[in-house]
Amino acid sequence: MVGGTPLSGEVTVTGAKNSVLKLMAASMLAVGTTTLRAVPDILDVEIMAELLRRLGCTVDHRHRAGTVDITVPEDLEHRADYDLVRRMRASICVLGPLLARCGAADVALPGGDNIGSRGLDMHIDGLQRMGADVVNEHGYLLAASAGRLQGASIWLDFPSVGATETILMAAVTASGTTVIDNAAREPEIVDICTMLTAMGAIIDGIGTSTITIDGVDDLVAVEHTTVGDRIVAGTWAIAAAMTQGDIIVRRANAEHLTIALDKLQTAGAIVTCLDDGFRVQMDRRPRAVDIVTLPYPGFPTDLQPQFIALNAISEGAALVTENLFEARFRFVQELARLGANVRTDGHHALVRGRSTLSAAPVEATDIRAGAGLVLAGLVAEGTTTVYGVSHIDRGYAGFIPALQSLGADITRAEG
Ligand code: EPU
Repeated sequence: MVGGTPLSGEVTVTGAKNSVLKLMAASMLAVGTTTLRAVPDILDVEIMAELLRRLGCTVDHRHRAGTVDITVPEDLEHRADYDLVRRMRASICVLGPLLARCGAADVALPGGDNIGSRGLDMHIDGLQRMGADVVNEHGYLLAASAGRLQGASIWLDFPSVGATETILMAAVTASGTTVIDNAAREPEIVDICTMLTAMGAIIDGIGTSTITIDGVDDLVAVEHTTVGDRIVAGTWAIAAAMTQGDIIVRRANAEHLTIALDKLQTAGAIVTCLDDGFRVQMDRRPRAVDIVTLPYPGFPTDLQPQFIALNAISEGAALVTENLFEARFRFVQELARLGANVRTDGHHALVRGRSTLSAAPVEATDIRAGAGLVLAGLVAEGTTTVYGVSHIDRGYAGFIPALQSLGADITRAEG
């Protein structure tokens, strides 16, 4: 890509990766056909579809329509193999539904990844409190319950997205009441609760830190439209601000991005809310802004690399604090290849803005780092090549064509 063109035009976001993968897993809680809409055309959806097929489901992904039909049989397999789990950590989200449906779940441990160690202790503790026996053997979590899981009171040490989902999906058909305290409140959690409720689950406190679930005997398969991807929407907002452009983002909910959009306004952008999205305009060099990542409604860690890229070309200096994933600053080494001035120390990164970045070959190490590097390349002088684009494919559907439609000088090399 050759940097220097302000991006302008319209983009429409599809459903959220971090919701749809869990909705696909949740479909296993009901025998019959679940239809999911606004499904993004991304690699992780394919991996999850493959996993569900191995578990005995029939999955029909109609790419053009953006729908997935998942037909779930009476009897499911209960083993999620390492070859798929290692390709996508989110595979762990089949643990709760499999245990609830089969009374057993053998799920390979995902291991570390490029953004840190990412423990599962709260998932395990929650299921054990519900009466499951969970052991770690030969690289697999082996979970089993004699009879139905039992409702329980569970306090999470940290509002983990994944642990909240595992417990939620295990609890909807457990016997009795489960209370999750210090639960995650992300819009994707609300989306899963909304679908589970339509399936017949009884859930109170959706979107709050205390979720109460009264277990029911059976759930039914439903149709559901996935919530819009706030991280993709936020990436477009940052792209508009960085390139001094003007982008209208459709099918996005500005309320899901309150802090991020507020930070962009502090940086100098004009943000206008629209009926079905928002518009971000920028006519000056951004001012550097401090950010601190926190669970929702705090600033999302999944927009942190993109914001570091913005700060790297801003006026002034900013302190970025990462509280969720210790290794998310690794991408700063790549950004430095474009001339960015970033110093990291533990959870903190000090970014001193430079008036220009200079193009270079760089390597994407995860989805969001990849997005951050592309944004940096779009403002760097000269031709930047980003390697490892398959990471971006995992989370951004049609990213490069969308950038081209906004005027970016970018192409994808074959192979
Ligand atoms: N943690 C534990 N023990 C647990 C669970 C979590 O120590 O039992 C720690 C993790 O190690 C991490 C922190 O808690 O340091 C946050 O973990 P959380 O469970 O909240 O995150 P997650 O479910 O693993 C999801 C998204 C991430 C997103 C985070 C935070 C999916 C598939 N992934 O991960 O998305 O960053 O929530 O919002 O939903 C991405 O899309 O690029 C991505 C990494």
